[in-house]
Amino acid sequence: MSHGVKPHHIGLLTSGGDSPGMNAAIRAVVRCAHVQGLKVTGFLGGYDGLVNGRSRPLGPRDVSNIIQRGGTMLRTARSAAFFTEEGRAKAASILGELGVEALVVIGGNGTFTGADILHREHGVRSVGLPGTIDNDLKGTDRSIGYDTAINTAVEAIDRIRDTASSHDRLFFVEVMGRDSGAIALDCAVAAGAEFVLVPEREEHIDQLIEAIKGSDGAKASSIVVVAEGETEGGAFRIADLVKDRLPNKDIRVTVIGHVQRGGSPTVQDRVLSSRLGVAAVDALVRGEHSCMMGMIGGQVTSTPFAEAIQGHRELDRDLFRVLRILAT
Ligand code: F6P
Repeated sequence: MSHGVKPHHIGLLTSGGDSPGMNAAIRAVVRCAHVQGLKVTGFLGGYDGLVNGRSRPLGPRDVSNIIQRGGTMLRTARSAAFFTEEGRAKAASILGELGVEALVVIGGNGTFTGADILHREHGVRSVGLPGTIDNDLKGTDRSIGYDTAINTAVEAIDRIRDTASSHDRLFFVEVMGRDSGAIALDCAVAAGAEFVLVPEREEHIDQLIEAIKGSDGAKASSIVVVAEGETEGGAFRIADLVKDRLPNKDIRVTVIGHVQRGGSPTVQDRVLSSRLGVAAVDALVRGEHSCMMGMIGGQVTSTPFAEAIQGHRELDRDLFRVLRILAT
């Protein structure tokens, strides 16, 4: 992490895809800043709010009654304007006009990349919080929203299992994760699925067919969890490939989609957001910046943006073996 002077006025924004727990993190940042004597300005709609000067002051009462809500009260966007030099210059001049000395940015890879560039070009200091359901960031065991998303997805898959087993059907269930299979892998193990397909790994169709049949060739119904970014092109494509090999199988496809992004955050996500929100303000008060706060092995940790955004967090390879053994 880099060091600078303690700010007196900080800005706060959420950017990229929303994730359950962002509101709890906003609440924690605003209230901790209040306790530390810092002013907070919230920017609306991610980096677009910075570029267009859409903002509002945030005090401790402005964040009442939000800890239990999904989404983000600050709204979010994937801003195209901010990813131009001109947009970032505008953002820096708006921060100067408002007297905002540093930012807390809540989001994923793109969010921290933006904050890093803003620092290099205009000296704007930021601390990041990992807010994404994908759990693909290095520097934290869990990102804000991941626990809620996987619990939502598993609840949906449990329901699918009821109907799958009643009809002896094979279901392909697609979960989110364009670049990361973390959601798919955890959900597959937790839901007792037969197989999982993820973007990080190419699977052979023969192995998938074997898993569907079971070790004794007698499985009547099966669930295959597919990450949206898996290498063949998603659940519908995989279902077609399997249909060609097993024409007598009764196959259905369910895409869970954005249901996974909404809903009231779990206890785990609320506690994570609260701890990390406080940690972000504490870090800025200590003069730290250009880093993401996370939790590793139960400890609050700070990881430089450059490291957090380099590639993706690795999947737990042992879970593939666990899945294979238990799907016998
Ligand atoms: O990054 C979070 C995420 O939900 C991914 O899992 C998914 O691929 C993507 O966002 C969907 O983005 P959008 O909401 O823009 O369709």
